[in-house]
Amino acid sequence: MKSIFLVISLSSLLLIELTFSSEEIVMEAGSIKEKSTEDIVSRVGSFVSLLHARNDQIKDCFENIKGKDIIISDRDEELEKKDQVIKGLEDHIRSVSEELYEITDQPLTANGTDRCPIGSESGIYRVKIPGLRNFEAACNEEGWMTIQRRIDGSENFTRDWESYKNGFGDVRKEFFIGLEKLYLMTDQRPCELVIKLGDANGTTKYAYYDDFKIGNEEALYKIINLAFRSGTAGDSMFWNKNKKFSTFDRDNDLIPRDCAKTHSGGWWFAECGYSSLNGKYHADGFAPHRNGIHWGTANGYNYTVSLLSTEMMIRPKICNH
Ligand SMILES: *[C@@H]1O[C@H](CO)[C@@H](O)[C@H](O)[C@H]1NC(C)=O
Ligand SMILES: *[C@@H]1O[C@H](CO)[C@@H](O)[C@H](O)[C@H]1NC(C)=O
Ligand SMILES: *[C@@H]1O[C@H](CO)[C@@H](O)[C@H](O)[C@H]1NC(C)=O
Ligand SMILES: *[C@@H]1O[C@H](CO)[C@@H](O)[C@H](O)[C@H]1NC(C)=O
Repeated sequence: MKSIFLVISLSSLLLIELTFSSEEIVMEAGSIKEKSTEDIVSRVGSFVSLLHARNDQIKDCFENIKGKDIIISDRDEELEKKDQVIKGLEDHIRSVSEELYEITDQPLTANGTDRCPIGSESGIYRVKIPGLRNFEAACNEEGWMTIQRRIDGSENFTRDWESYKNGFGDVRKEFFIGLEKLYLMTDQRPCELVIKLGDANGTTKYAYYDDFKIGNEEALYKIINLAFRSGTAGDSMFWNKNKKFSTFDRDNDLIPRDCAKTHSGGWWFAECGYSSLNGKYHADGFAPHRNGIHWGTANGYNYTVSLLSTEMMIRPKICNH
C-alpha cells in the first residue's frame, strides 16, 4: 500500500511539474503571438500606405503616358502629312525626269541614230533603240557597231549571267555590249555580223556572217540565225547556232562539263566547241589550259593559241536601210 501511495504522489508531483512547465510555454507562446500580431498589424499598415503611395505614383504615370500618347499621335499625323508631301515631290521628280529623257532622246531618234551612221567618222555615238535608254556605242564609218572588243586584257571577262546580260567594260577599250541590247537590236531588224581576230604574229583574220539574231532572256539568248558568208578566219561559230548562252553561274551547254568555267568566260557553248572569244586574256598568246581566246578554224584547231585581239561588230542589213 505504502509503495503504491508513494508512486501516486510521485506521479502527481511529476504531473504538477509538467503542468506548470507547459503553462509557462503556453504563456510564452501567447506573448509571442501578441507580439507578432502587433508587428504584423503595423507592417500591414505600412504596406497599405506604401500601396497607396504606389497607386498614386501609378496614377501619375498613367496621366503622363496619356499625355505622351496624345503628343505621339499628333507627331504621327504630322509625319503622315510629311510623307504625303514627299510622295508628291517624288511623283513630280519622276514625271520631270521622264520628260527630260523624252527631250534628250528626241534629237537622237529624230536624226536617225537608232544605229551607227554610215559615212560618218568612226567614234562614239549616242544610240537610241526602242525599249532601251540611249547608250554610247562604238561605231565605224561603215555603220558597224562594236558589240565586243579585246585588246589588252584590261577587262575581266570571267563574269556572271547578270553582267553578260547587262554588258560590262569600257566602250572605248575592252567591253561586251550586253545580251539584252544584242537581243533587242538583232530582233528589231535583220543584222549582219563581222568578227576580226588578231594573233600573236600580228596577223588579222576575219569572219563575215550575213545573218545574225539571238533570242531573248527567256530563250537564254540562244543564237537563232547565223549564216557564214566568207572570211579568212573560217567559220568557228557553226556549232554555236541554236545554242544558249552560258556563264559560270548559268550552265546551259550540252555536256555535263561546265564550258563557261573551263573556258573562263560566257559564250554560246555547245560541247565547249571551236570558238570562245570571251576567254581569259593571255598577253603572250599562249593558253596552256586551253581557256584563252580561241577560234579553232583560224589556228589549225590548236586551242593553246590565245588571240591577242578580237572585235565583234553588227550592222542592220544594208538592203534594209
Ligand atoms: C543628231 O542631231 C543632234 C542635234 O541636231 C546633233 O548634235 C548630232 O550631232 C546628230 N548626230 C548625228 C550622228 O548626226
Ligand atoms: C575575274 O572575275 C572572276 C569572278 O569574279 C574572279 O574569280 C577572277 O579572279 C577575276 N580575275 C582577275 C584577273 O581579276
Ligand atoms: C605564227 O607564225 C609561225 C611561223 O609561221 C607559226 O608557226 C605559228 O603557228 C603562228 N602563230 C599563230 C598564233 O598563228
Ligand atoms: C600550239 O600552239 C602553241 C602556242 O603557239 C605552240 O607552242 C604549240 O607548238 C602548238 N601546237 C601544235 C600541235 O601546233
